[in-house]
Amino acid sequence: APIATPDLSKCEPADLPSNAIDRSNCCPPVATNIIDYTPSASSTLRVRPPAHAVDATYLAKFNKAIAAMKALPSTDPRSFIQQARVHCAYCDGGYNQVGFPNLDLQVHGSWLFLPFHRYYLYFFERILGSLINDPTFAIPFWNWDHPDGMKMPSIYTNTSSPLYDRRRDAAHQPPTVIDLNYDGSDDSTSDNALINANLTVMYQQIVRNASTPRLFLGQPYRAGDASPGGSGSLENVPHGPVHVWTGDRNQPNNEDMGTFYTAAKDPIFYAHHANVDRMWSVWKSRRSNPTAPEFTDTDWLNASFIFYDENKQAVRVRVKDCLDTKKLGYTYQNVDLPWLNSRP
Ligand code: C2O
Repeated sequence: APIATPDLSKCEPADLPSNAIDRSNCCPPVATNIIDYTPSASSTLRVRPPAHAVDATYLAKFNKAIAAMKALPSTDPRSFIQQARVHCAYCDGGYNQVGFPNLDLQVHGSWLFLPFHRYYLYFFERILGSLINDPTFAIPFWNWDHPDGMKMPSIYTNTSSPLYDRRRDAAHQPPTVIDLNYDGSDDSTSDNALINANLTVMYQQIVRNASTPRLFLGQPYRAGDASPGGSGSLENVPHGPVHVWTGDRNQPNNEDMGTFYTAAKDPIFYAHHANVDRMWSVWKSRRSNPTAPEFTDTDWLNASFIFYDENKQAVRVRVKDCLDTKKLGYTYQNVDLPWLNSRP
């Protein structure tokens, strides 16, 4: 059977590292009624732009939207802190699997990773748009697969911006080039060599090591499984290394970005995941039948999650309804994919 929608009323304090720097409860407000999500054809697509290339008008809107989200009361499910806690609840044992009170629900490490995060960003983006009355507002993506985007996007590093987070690695501020295969130690490679190595990593993870849906999206994870079946290539690398590279090495658990329970407290999390999500679209577009579902297994298609939408309404979503971003009303600005030519 598919992993079922968690029961919000049974959310428990997360299992945090013993030296966690923030022990607040991650559970969202309990929903009184839950509606089922149905994709509705939207008239205008939201087009997500690369974060390093946005203009001043876009940035002003984005700052305003994030500031408005941060200004909401912390009990409001649309507030920035509640949005950040969604990640903690789903990733640090806040929920048990329905019907399996001894088993945690975990959205990493399996074929649920990409669909869960796609929906997470979808609602985050809709909330931002509604807070600034712009139904076409689209979140930016951190274009780390392109040389122009291989550093922390500067819009996030202005200390007086609502996009700033102080818990990031001080040695990885721009213009430091990111290492998409970062293992916790900086090597002394030249920028050019690092950029080329990054392009090779991209080719490996999106093409060479990703020849099947299981290899790319991850292994099955079904109701009653004690743990997720295994990560796909994209979740492993560069998804994981980008988290660790961004988090502050001087915090006990590499907070914020370097650990599940705080990762989404850094606004850059959503740009990082937008690029992860974009890589899913790119991988899918290269399949021989790009509109076919990645898995026909109903344990994947019918797996479900719950999120709050821009009207504070709890919505149950199913994996099968997120497989085409256009049906969710968004797409990505087209940019070059130089790594496609970086076959090692
Ligand atoms: Cu839910 Cu990037 O992790």
